[in-house]
Amino acid sequence: MEIKKVGVLGFTGTMGRGIAQVCAQSGYEVIGSSRSEERAAKAISTIDAALARSVERGRMSQEDKDAAIARIKGTADIKDFNDCDLVIEVAAEELDIKIKAFTELDSICKAGAILASNTSVLPLVDMAMATKRPEKVIGLHFFNPVSAMKLVEIIKPITVSEETAETCVKFIESLGKTVVALPDTPGFIVNRLAVGFMLNAVTLLENGIATKEDIDTAVKLGLNHPMGPLELADLIGNDIVLDMADGIYETLKEPRYIAPNLLRRMVAAGWLGQKTKKGFYDYNK
Ligand SMILES: NC(=O)c1ccc[n+]([C@@H]2O[C@H](COP(=O)([O-])OP(=O)(O)OC[C@H]3O[C@@H](n4cnc5c(N)ncnc54)[C@H](O)[C@@H]3O)[C@@H](O)[C@H]2O)c1
Repeated sequence: MEIKKVGVLGFTGTMGRGIAQVCAQSGYEVIGSSRSEERAAKAISTIDAALARSVERGRMSQEDKDAAIARIKGTADIKDFNDCDLVIEVAAEELDIKIKAFTELDSICKAGAILASNTSVLPLVDMAMATKRPEKVIGLHFFNPVSAMKLVEIIKPITVSEETAETCVKFIESLGKTVVALPDTPGFIVNRLAVGFMLNAVTLLENGIATKEDIDTAVKLGLNHPMGPLELADLIGNDIVLDMADGIYETLKEPRYIAPNLLRRMVAAGWLGQKTKKGFYDYNK
């Protein structure tokens, strides 16, 4: 099956915009949904501004930028996904929201369309079983920022067909990304490792063992990571990090995935990181 048109459900969020942008840049027709027309239009103008910055920096031509943005449409009605070959769900990291989205997508999308989720930790099999096409449901786990990050984890629930997985490998490679495919397991590879690492860093901070700056500097200079774990949590979104920790703990019950109180309190206070201008660091300046 050839993918030509891609739907993005949850288009106005960080990941939704990034995925829509990368697909459009690679020549796919894209339709993104939001809960209002205004928010969908705003998402397109945010993508437009990101592409304009790439033109300014000489990374793409004005012509390619115009062509990419012309391939993206916004809608407030997910019935407009009816002719998509692939829909990628990028809504909030809550199983109930995702299951509802998959049930709805299954009733709207044409037979044969692949339904994918960008979930970070949730079980794909639960989303697959919310549809009448479990063999067509798969995880496509992109990383933030989508345009820069080269990896996509393809998550294969026990219900998915090899044909669906193969189509998705080709699709992801056509975006210029590298694929790592693995079974449906909590946190997959990257988040299983990264969440444990970030929670440990928050515990060091919470216990007064080191300052946030020293923790991040130590990891950057001692391990040669481009970002420290607290900077990374602020970039990903502390709410998403907490959801991931809770999601992994829920299944594995390993104490190292119990989120520190500090992280839970920061999320309760709305200190979500870069997206709210306050997290471990202050982004107002
Ligand atoms: N932020 C990251 O670094 C990252 C990386 C990989 C995967 N993910 C995953 O991608 C998904 C989205 O994360 P994000 O960081 O883009 O979040 P976000 O909060 O920036 O965006 C979430 C989007 O979902 C929409 N939404 C919320 N509730 C909804 C509902 N009930 N129905 C439909 N849409 C709804 C919001 O309007 C918004 O557009 C999550 O599953 C997350 O785990 C995030």
